[in-house]
Amino acid sequence: MDMMKPIGRVALVTGAGRGIGRSLSIGLAEFGYDVAILDLASQQAALEETASAIEALGRKAYIKPIDVTSKSEVDATVAAIIAEAGSIDVVVNNAGILKPSLLQDLSEQDWNAHFDVNAKGVLLVCQAALPHMRVKKSGRIINIASIAARQGVPTQGHYAATKAAVITLTRVLAQEVGMDGVTVNAICPGIILTEMGKNNLGSDEAIRHWETVAALKRLGYPDDIIGPVRFFASNQSDFVTGQALNVDGGIYYH
Ligand SMILES: NC(=O)c1ccc[n+]([C@@H]2O[C@H](COP(=O)([O-])OP(=O)(O)OC[C@H]3O[C@@H](n4cnc5c(N)ncnc54)[C@H](O)[C@@H]3O)[C@@H](O)[C@H]2O)c1
Repeated sequence: MDMMKPIGRVALVTGAGRGIGRSLSIGLAEFGYDVAILDLASQQAALEETASAIEALGRKAYIKPIDVTSKSEVDATVAAIIAEAGSIDVVVNNAGILKPSLLQDLSEQDWNAHFDVNAKGVLLVCQAALPHMRVKKSGRIINIASIAARQGVPTQGHYAATKAAVITLTRVLAQEVGMDGVTVNAICPGIILTEMGKNNLGSDEAIRHWETVAALKRLGYPDDIIGPVRFFASNQSDFVTGQALNVDGGIYYH
């Protein structure tokens, strides 16, 4: 069997300033990709830090401040990356937000904000990158969903619904673009110890609880997501599309 190899030269990662997106950007650089790193303009310093880590590996980093909810910004940014880097071979849709609320108390504004970033943001980046991928008959789209989409827990109903939307979008888009050599897959992380993960857990008791229900008896780190993303960004997943892979240490809901 062949060694695991990148399918191209350039990857794009959204939400790349911190957390899982930062890890994935560096993990893809280590795997051989130059990486366009996108995040909110407020995260400029974090983006520069991610860029230094990528450059220290001898790869190029393209810093792009962007709000993924803006179609005009997404279209302009994707066009600029293609012009500068010459290609986009892999897209990792990772930007996301989680502000817990009971569904009963959820404001219309928070419902819209979650769907705008977590679901519409994924669609907009796919729409911008796909024409380029379809012309060159090659591309990989990797959407970061969540195990929340599998069942969901109280105070995350709206978030879980956005992630379920991401999985469904992944499955359908895979069918719409497969004939042009593009695969579309999702990863469903479990509880990962990032800013988002820690805010979400809240207390030490909650951390112990989730460690207990995971088969591997620990919570995840951002680097735990790198291997599965490299798989989807490699020649080893050529015949895999429309899938959603849990990367959660084996969490079973009780
Ligand atoms: N941490 C977890 O436990 C966990 C579990 C399952 C899924 N996820 C998913 O993984 C992804 C990354 O999560 P994380 O834990 O690293 O979160 P994080 O909050 O640490 O990082 C998210 C990044 O996305 C960026 N972002 C937010 N809104 C944006 C926008 N409109 N445009 C561009 N960038 C934006 C933020 O600035 C931030 O840098 C998210 O999609 C999240 O839903 C996280």
